[in-house]
Amino acid sequence: MDHFTLVYDLCRAALSGDPKEARSVVKRLGSALAKGGNADDAALISRLVKATGTSGERRAVAFTESKTGKAPLFDLPGEVLHAATHIPVDRESGASLAEVIPVERLAADRPVLGAALEGAVNDLLLEWQNASSLASLGLTPARTCLIYGPPGTGKTRLAHWLAGQLQVPVILVRLDGLMSSYLGTTSRNIGNLFKFANTYKAVLLLDEFDAIAKLRDDPNEIGEIKRIVNTLLQELDARRPLGFTIAITNHSNLLDPAVWRRFEVQLETPIPDWGQRLEILKAFLPPLDISDGKQQLLSWALDGCSGAEIEDVVIGLKKSHALDPDGLTFVERLTRVSFSHGGRIKERIKSLLASDTTRLAQALLEQPHFSQARVAEALDLNRSTVSRWAKIK
Ligand SMILES: Nc1ncnc2c1ncn2[C@@H]1O[C@H](COP(=O)(O)OP(=O)(O)OP(=O)(O)O)[C@@H](O)[C@H]1O
Ligand SMILES: [Mg+2]
Repeated sequence: MDHFTLVYDLCRAALSGDPKEARSVVKRLGSALAKGGNADDAALISRLVKATGTSGERRAVAFTESKTGKAPLFDLPGEVLHAATHIPVDRESGASLAEVIPVERLAADRPVLGAALEGAVNDLLLEWQNASSLASLGLTPARTCLIYGPPGTGKTRLAHWLAGQLQVPVILVRLDGLMSSYLGTTSRNIGNLFKFANTYKAVLLLDEFDAIAKLRDDPNEIGEIKRIVNTLLQELDARRPLGFTIAITNHSNLLDPAVWRRFEVQLETPIPDWGQRLEILKAFLPPLDISDGKQQLLSWALDGCSGAEIEDVVIGLKKSHALDPDGLTFVERLTRVSFSHGGRIKERIKSLLASDTTRLAQALLEQPHFSQARVAEALDLNRSTVSRWAKIK
């Protein structure tokens, strides 16, 4: 066999887990192939070397626990995940059944939660912090959590942040991805995935969990599909003492009671109300600095928007500001952005923003949060003008 010595060196480097050495041998193999006249094979190796960069070395530490020194709120059992850890794959397609998100990539900032959700999340953290008090009564902290709510309301961000509090990586699974066209393979995928998740210290995050409900409705192969759903529910039950599991869905109405029952904690992320909108936009505005009145105008304009939509509109405003810092008033800028983000802002609000300032000011004055002073501040008017307009309503 040509280049056996190099292949042998490569095997040794790979088996001893030495990515630096493996990379150097791969480069040597590329040069040997080029010298031997195998230009195509040499080019292939060279592309591989370029495509992987030096990430092999970085990934070796990327999945391990955070180096922040911050103690986790609660210590999950299991082995530490490494980049070299084999992630199970679907045997038919070869696709990975999960993605591992290292602690370093999890959101560090607490998402803006409404009052109700804030309380529920604090209760969960309290359980983790006081595991020993719970144990004295024969209880354990919650290990299963369902997060549900409309698109873009921060479900994924909340799940990542919770995993960050435990200082463990996330094993992210899209339930759709587990479903193979071969039903037998689907059951095996579920088994392999849970075996993997149960071995390691990590949060298992099951996204698009409503896929389980869609499966149940499938009129084909009813018996087999029921078996798959039951396998999944049994795996969830068996995992409970081993690790923390979060399931996420946008379609909570599709989940039946047997599924709801599996989750000790059920957190709803609603469309933000006035106060939460203000908090979210304040989190995304910096370094753009705008007055309280203008923040209120923005919160009013974003009525009914999700956190993700608020973030998008604020980014639009920042871009507009960066490209034309002084040319437009705030309300002109907001009006433009409201039309370039047309699907996000209500028609009634867009038409008020685009109408004359008197009408807009009068509409704002009817809102509970706007005093005359705030309206003046929001629209860059003087107080006496606003006061005059208030009288001619
Ligand atoms: N309550 C919130 N606080 C802070 N940021 C938020 C909030 N809600 C949404 N966002 C921001 O919106 C973006 C989308 O959030 P995320 O992906 O968590 O939403 P989601 O509910 O998982 O959406 P989907 O249902 O589409 O998966 C993120 O950048 C996130 O920071
Ligand atoms: Mg999400």
